Amino acid sequence: MKNYKITLIKGDGIGPEIIDEAVKVLDAVASSCDFGFNYDEALMGGCAYDITGDPLPKETITKSLNSDAVLFGAIGGPKWDNLPREKRPESGLLRFRKELGVYANLRPAVVYDELINASSLKPEVVKGVDLMVVRELIGGIYFGEPKGRDENKGWNTMVYTRSEIIRIAHQAFKIAMTREKRVCSIDKANVLDVSQLWREVVTEVATQYPEVELSHMYVDNAAMQLIRDPRQFDVMLTGNIFGDILSDEASMLSGSIGLLPSASVGAKIGVFEPIHGSAPDIAGQGIANPIATIASASMMLRYALGENEAADKIDNAIKRALKEGYRTQDLAQFDAKEVCSTSEMGSIIANYIER
Ligand code: IPM
Ligand code: MG
Repeated sequence: MKNYKITLIKGDGIGPEIIDEAVKVLDAVASSCDFGFNYDEALMGGCAYDITGDPLPKETITKSLNSDAVLFGAIGGPKWDNLPREKRPESGLLRFRKELGVYANLRPAVVYDELINASSLKPEVVKGVDLMVVRELIGGIYFGEPKGRDENKGWNTMVYTRSEIIRIAHQAFKIAMTREKRVCSIDKANVLDVSQLWREVVTEVATQYPEVELSHMYVDNAAMQLIRDPRQFDVMLTGNIFGDILSDEASMLSGSIGLLPSASVGAKIGVFEPIHGSAPDIAGQGIANPIATIASASMMLRYALGENEAADKIDNAIKRALKEGYRTQDLAQFDAKEVCSTSEMGSIIANYIER
């Protein structure tokens, strides 16, 4: 029997609770398929700082690189907000992404029919939305040099090289080939030089994918179009900061940020995590929505392990739980038949898989 090595990084806040539910569901899917999992935990974020003085201990990187995939919860919280920047949980996460070389962040935004009323937009606008933000993750203004600050000035640099744009563009086109074959590349080419290069290079890469229809859109317009008519999008290809912003915006189409998973992939290894944060305000109360993390586990099966059938099983079980009217607190006012806790939701989804 095949055994996959999974590094679990639970992190801070609600991280541990939601990872536990994803593991429950993974174990259920493994017992109904022909493989198993070996889990190994590693520290990152505020909890890592508290124990080791470093938000990203070396051991976490080695463990992760030696596994088949990483399942990650969330990091951060007010407790660590006043630390110097390099000790903050967020710095650990950014270094982690860089060290693992996960340059492509895939963030799907799907509107479940069962939750159509949970969106703050009208049902007729969001019905059937199924888009994927492909965000460049280890370049752009997050990492560009020079950067710094003094008393009266702070500065960062948005820089992309041709090769960085080429590899993320290929990711977007390849994913589009498995979907509706449309890529909309987001930039600010009317103002930024870096965006002009971005647009040129994406257009060149597109010639290798003649079946995919490429369009370009300025980021400000894209922010507006996502609200006006989100169904026009299939794959949205973005740089780091534009994708950070637009993927949060896109997540609200679905009604709760607690629903959406993400995958960060590169040449070496994939990291799978919910797009929401550590929600310290509700940590430990058993009310967090574990669905985004469970859906991230499904993306792990699909994108890192090639277990598509198992991934389908999880996705179907999530849909079934929603269809039957099970809701965690965040969605309690939207057609709930029964409001359930974090761990009840995990068990319900796991049970639907075993059957
Ligand atoms: C995200 C988060 C991170 C980012 C933060 C926590 C560094 O907002 O994953 O979207 O900006 O990339
Ligand atoms: Mg973000």
